[in-house]
Amino acid sequence: GLPTRVRIHEVGPRDGLQNEKTLVPAAIKAEFIRRLAEAGLTTIEATSFVHPKWVPQLADAEELMRLVDDVAVRLPVLVPNERGLDRALALGAREVAVFASATESFARANLNRTVDQALEMFEPVVTKAKDAGVTVRGYLSMCFGDPWEGPVPVSQTVSVSRRLLDMGCDEISLGDTIGVATPGHVRELLDTLGEAGIADDRLAVHFHDTYGQALANTLAALQHGVTTVDASAGGLGGCPYAKSATGNLATEDLVWMLDGLGIETGVDIGRLTATSVWMARHLGRPSPSRTVRALSQK
Ligand code: HMG
Ligand code: MG
Repeated sequence: GLPTRVRIHEVGPRDGLQNEKTLVPAAIKAEFIRRLAEAGLTTIEATSFVHPKWVPQLADAEELMRLVDDVAVRLPVLVPNERGLDRALALGAREVAVFASATESFARANLNRTVDQALEMFEPVVTKAKDAGVTVRGYLSMCFGDPWEGPVPVSQTVSVSRRLLDMGCDEISLGDTIGVATPGHVRELLDTLGEAGIADDRLAVHFHDTYGQALANTLAALQHGVTTVDASAGGLGGCPYAKSATGNLATEDLVWMLDGLGIETGVDIGRLTATSVWMARHLGRPSPSRTVRALSQK
């Protein structure tokens, strides 16, 4: 069966913009977040407290958090280490995410660490965040395939997921960072996680649309029992440290499918599309989302 309601974890302002070469002013990012909230999104990942040299686009994290202080939705932020967590807590963050990798190659590229060293770096972050009453998401990248290592064994993804949960993460977001997953692989991973005692209600799915599989994979995950789905308004995004990572699943494509299935999201697709068209105009190129294109040409 399918769920009656899905929680969309909107990642456009963070995952969507982190790869943009031209710096987007903090005021535009704040307006983007405000409009997304007005369109009905209730969880909007705002930014990352990472090293500014690693992701220059998000170097304005402090300024941005001050600008969206009054936006009354969940505004999670990424933190790789204690330095990042302290910066986020100082700004009043109530929800953070650490970001691990199922593969050694991506752990090295994204965090300058081995998988084990990255998990060691996260441990005090998760403990300190939980002590402060802050919700912690654990992202897990390269759950299906890796640009350097090829297909990723399910057992490898399950093992790092387990370690993130044991550390205290409230939720794991399974990332198909380069978009190579197909629905059978999604079912196999979710089945194996279930057998390892990791139920669908602790999981979110994070698909990229590189091979046009993001919606099919999402449907497979929903049929399995997952009810939290990551998506990026207008299909913005990619990862600066993973070659061949293209846009995330577009939130509009997701909402179009869920609306059609009668699954509640609370999102107004018209307002959302208008927001993505506005953002695309600011970035100077059209949204890659088929739904945005179809609805904005009407
Ligand atoms: P490092 O170079 O190993 O850092 O980078 P370090 O720990 O050796 O510290 C070096 C310097 O950085 C020190 O300063 C630290 O204070 C400073 P110095 O003493 O030399 O002046 N520093 C910081 N400054 C500000 N904020 C911080 C911070 N931490 C250290 N938080 C590090 C290690 C983790 C910092 C670096 O690798 C990094 O920032 N990586 C982030 C990369 C990133 O954001 N990638 C994209 C997000 S993941 C993703 O997109 C995947 C996802 O979307 C899901 C999917 O699709 O798969 C989530
Ligand atoms: Mg991503």
